[in-house]
Amino acid sequence: MKGIILAGGQGTRLYPLTVSLSKQLLPVYDKPMVYYPLSMLMLAGIREILVISTPEALPAFRKLLGDGSQFGVRFVFQEQPSPRGIAEAFLLGREFIAGEPVCLALGDNIFFGTSLPQRLRRAAQIRQGAVVFAYQVRDPRRYAVVTFQYDESDSERGLALTLEEKPAQPLSRYAVPGLYFYDAQAVAIAEALKPSARGELEITDLNRVYMQRGQLHVEVLGRGVAWLDAGTPESLVQAAAFVQTVQERQGMMISCPEEIAYRMGYIDAARLEAQARQLAQTTYGRYLLQLLEDEVRE
Ligand code: G1P
Repeated sequence: MKGIILAGGQGTRLYPLTVSLSKQLLPVYDKPMVYYPLSMLMLAGIREILVISTPEALPAFRKLLGDGSQFGVRFVFQEQPSPRGIAEAFLLGREFIAGEPVCLALGDNIFFGTSLPQRLRRAAQIRQGAVVFAYQVRDPRRYAVVTFQYDESDSERGLALTLEEKPAQPLSRYAVPGLYFYDAQAVAIAEALKPSARGELEITDLNRVYMQRGQLHVEVLGRGVAWLDAGTPESLVQAAAFVQTVQERQGMMISCPEEIAYRMGYIDAARLEAQARQLAQTTYGRYLLQLLEDEVRE
């Protein structure tokens, strides 16, 4: 499966922070925001990743991420000349996707939870239809909202029944996070989409086509999973505080791509050590070195 990180947009809800900086490069405590969705793709087993951003911001993403060898993945970069909606990612990424299944991650979505790696790997197995997640939030009006029918034998999975983008009167409290898994139909569906009233190719319209085909699978993320977005000053600082609190308490990092790459077997100890030595002056680098030392001791 291929992966796409969409890190475009103007980030207007964060102005003036994002007048000259890409939102997805802002810090979430100790890492650039884009590390968090990147980590989800890596945990899902995805190693070929297209990073889409604005022409102004793309050089900074290239500088940060490089070719991906430090994480045992391969990055390809592509400009989104003007923000024409999330589903445009499939048109921009058509050649990269090359007829394969694809996972799309929005660059400002942050996830954390013990069950996630298995859930992500399972979603990445999809070969027919699409998988979205459902996550209960207090105020669903800011998101796509889904209702669904549970599968008979599974209390965590269902099939979508209704789907609405930012409804004034939501039919459920289940928001759809910005992490989507698709079979090979996604590009063709995106090609047939018409822009919405606000002039964008809506991801929710694409997902609705899958729903109408009876192919929109819903994975419910319940207690024990954190889903945060970092698109406003309040949510950005909340996300940073969350990451800091958990990391300082446990001494384990959330969404550290080097660690994930090492644990998933994408890079070996020598590669991890080389990366750690480059960052040795930082808490981040010392954490990577500690991973290697702990392993020797175990
Ligand atoms: C986008 C999508 C929305 C989704 C949300 C998740 O909204 O349009 O369906 O629920 O991401 O973060 P945005 O935050 O770009 O307004």
